[in-house]
Amino acid sequence: MDKIRIRGGARLKGTIPISGAKNATLPLMAAAFLTDAPLTLTNVPKLRDVAFMADILRGLGVSAEWTDGCALGAGGRYVLHAAHLSGTAADYDIVRKMRASFFILGPLLARAGEARISLPGGCAIGARPVDLHLKALAALGAEVDLSEGNVVARASRGLTGAKIKFPLVSVGATECALMAATLAKGQSVIHNAAREPEIADLGRCLIAMGAKIDGLGTSTVTVEGVSSLSAATHAVLPDRIETGTYAMAVAIAGGEVELIGTDVKLIEALAKLLGKSGVAVTPTPAGFVVARNGVCPRAVSMETQPFPGFPTDLQAQFMAFMATAEGSSHIKETIFENRFMHVPELLRMGADIKIDGNVAVVKGVARLKGAPVMATDLRASSSLVLAGLAAEGETVVNRVYHLDRGFERMEEKLSGVGAEIERVQG
Ligand code: EPZ
Repeated sequence: MDKIRIRGGARLKGTIPISGAKNATLPLMAAAFLTDAPLTLTNVPKLRDVAFMADILRGLGVSAEWTDGCALGAGGRYVLHAAHLSGTAADYDIVRKMRASFFILGPLLARAGEARISLPGGCAIGARPVDLHLKALAALGAEVDLSEGNVVARASRGLTGAKIKFPLVSVGATECALMAATLAKGQSVIHNAAREPEIADLGRCLIAMGAKIDGLGTSTVTVEGVSSLSAATHAVLPDRIETGTYAMAVAIAGGEVELIGTDVKLIEALAKLLGKSGVAVTPTPAGFVVARNGVCPRAVSMETQPFPGFPTDLQAQFMAFMATAEGSSHIKETIFENRFMHVPELLRMGADIKIDGNVAVVKGVARLKGAPVMATDLRASSSLVLAGLAAEGETVVNRVYHLDRGFERMEEKLSGVGAEIERVQG
């Protein structure tokens, strides 16, 4: 398995192109089921998870043709065409590799009147139930059965618009309800909808396909069902987690880097904390500049929250940053119950972190030390790369497989701004 080797200490200077968002691309790909016409996505990142999703779609008869984006961060063009479905049951061997495959349930059901998919188990970051997805589909009139680890959803006479009130904010369940409601008869109102930018991006694509949706970006989304959707072309929005990760790479390593093809508005909660810690964030026409020149960053506390709060997907990277800040910070994880897997690895690099329930108390140290490390989740893996940029000596991040699921050519992007980082084929 490939590894990433980093020699810490280099300051970063230059530009990093930001790719399209993984977590927007995956549900957008599932939306291809909603029409028998082609759906063209541009700015698609080349990631393992995108390849897994394409395999699932192909397994059900959807053609997925990729036009490579060659330049770093340029994004690819994917034409997805579900002209005729070859089945309604997703292949378990592919589904088990990626939780996000569950996204196909709602749109496949809405299109074909039936969908069968394995229940995703828990994963490294928590139990991650899917009860809210299933309740949303049941509210829209589907019969939902669980048998032998599978979800079987049926709506032979189609779905019917309904009021869906989520008891807690869920990105995936909101996306499931939104996609399914586009083809339901009548009006659906989704209350307590998640407001993550990837949901509005999905909504914009669905509108381009002919869906009638109001309230995108708010917690109440209204959908007037239509009888069919048609062909559309949609550009995937920039990846805010990649954006935030590279912003923190500069914060931790020092230097001045322009992140291009993105928007500081996508990471406002992080940008505020960076400002408080002494890192400058300045918008530019192409994106924004992150700069930390000389000053040692100050510790600041934060807790993860649904958007527009601080994203759980940036918590591990923020902890690596705080591990070298001046002072103590409290980092509270409120979304997932087991998202501190990076802590033992950061400790091995000399960090001073104590966990108390869902709070990590981080005391900044003057210098981290390079070490061989490993993580079982992609965001945790990226935090170890960031820690390696600031550490004395060599850090080897094992199981790069996880990084490749969600970060496009990370070592190339970082070496392009002067980091001493390389992939070691294994
Ligand atoms: C999405 O996962 C993202 N994945 C995650 O990114 C991200 O961490 C998460 O949203 C939170 O922002 C994709 O978009 C592909 P949720 P999702 O439903 O939709 C509970 C990454 O690293 N819940 O918003 O699965 C759940 O357990 C990944 O890119 C239920 O109880 O997250 C959690 O505590 C990891 N029942 C909370 O809601 C349900 O039916 C929020 O989860 C669904 C969720």
